[in-house]
This record gives sequence, structure tokens and C-alpha cells, in this order.
Amino acid sequence: MKTIILYESKHGCTKTCASYIKEKNHIDEITKASDFNGNLKDYDRIIIGTPVYIGQIHKKIKNLIQANKALLLKKKIDIFVCGMNEEGYEDMLLMNFDEDIRNHAKIIHAGGAYDFDKLGWLSKLIVKKIAKVDHSVEHIKYEQMDLI
Ligand SMILES: Cc1cc2nc3c(=O)[nH]c(=O)nc-3n(C[C@H](O)[C@H](O)[C@H](O)COP(=O)(O)O)c2cc1C
Repeated sequence: MKTIILYESKHGCTKTCASYIKEKNHIDEITKASDFNGNLKDYDRIIIGTPVYIGQIHKKIKNLIQANKALLLKKKIDIFVCGMNEEGYEDMLLMNFDEDIRNHAKIIHAGGAYDFDKLGWLSKLIVKKIAKVDHSVEHIKYEQMDLI
């Protein structure tokens, strides 16, 4: 089965998760969605990774799914979402993925991280105010990624 991993990542956690899934499943092709210049038709299985920021998945991933929806619904699709908000996870899915995609794809919550060495001042402020976290933490759910 020809497989590709397409992801976007702002601060590196989704990239880390994408690399984990790549190694675990012996997948050769992995690329940032914005760098992908192939044809999705050539793949049987497409694994998509995105972070969530302020309730929204990455814009390039949202656009990729919207632009290729009909094709994606004919393929085996796995989506892994990196985010730190457990309580808001189900609402986030409803807001970001339409019903057809939610019903068709296997979507997993890969957990996430706050990396204070990489966050800008505004992001740090938001994380401190909203998540009440003021230092780097990592909660990657490897057991969820093993379901892919
Ligand atoms: C400013 C900011 C806003 C965030 N908003 C959300 C959010 O709404 N929901 C969520 O689940 N996680 C949220 N997160 C956590 C990120 O999804 C998490 O840090 C993730 O690992 C980022 O992935 P990346 O390192 O690949 O960019 C936020 C993080 C930051 C810094």
C-alpha cells in the first residue's frame, strides 16, 4: 500500500509525531503539506498531521483537506491532531472536520507540547493565561499514535 505522511508543524511537536509514525510503520514518504508537489491520486493511504492553535487546525491542512475532499474520501485516511486541550478536543473536531471526513477518517489525538524555548512572547502569554502553564511540558500520546 503506497503511503504518505503530510503534516504541518509550527513549533516541532507535530513533526516529532510524524517522524514517530514514519519509523513505527516503515513509511518512506513524509513531507510538509506546503512542500508537497506530488499527486495524492498516486497514494492508497494518506496520513495527515496538524497542530491546533486557538481551536483551529493548521490552515494549510484545512485547505488541503477541503481542496481534495472527494479524492480523500476514496482513500484510507488517518489524521493525527496535536493539541494540549483535552476538554475541548471533541468540539475542536466538530469545528474543523466536516461530517464526511469525520466518518471516513481515523482521527486520533496525539497529545502535544508547550516548548517555551520556541514560543514567541504572545504565544507564551496566551499559554500562561489560558492553559496556566509557564514552562515547557510534553504530553505526547504514543499509545494513540500506535493505533495508526
Ligand atoms: C498560542 C497557543 C495556542 C494553542 N491553542 C490550542 C488549542 O486551542 N487547543 C489545543 O488543543 N492546543 C492548543 N495549543 C497547544 C498546541 O496545539 C501544542 O503546543 C502542539 O503541540 C503544537 O504543535 P506544533 O509544535 O507542531 O506546532 C496551543 C498552543 C499555543 C502556543
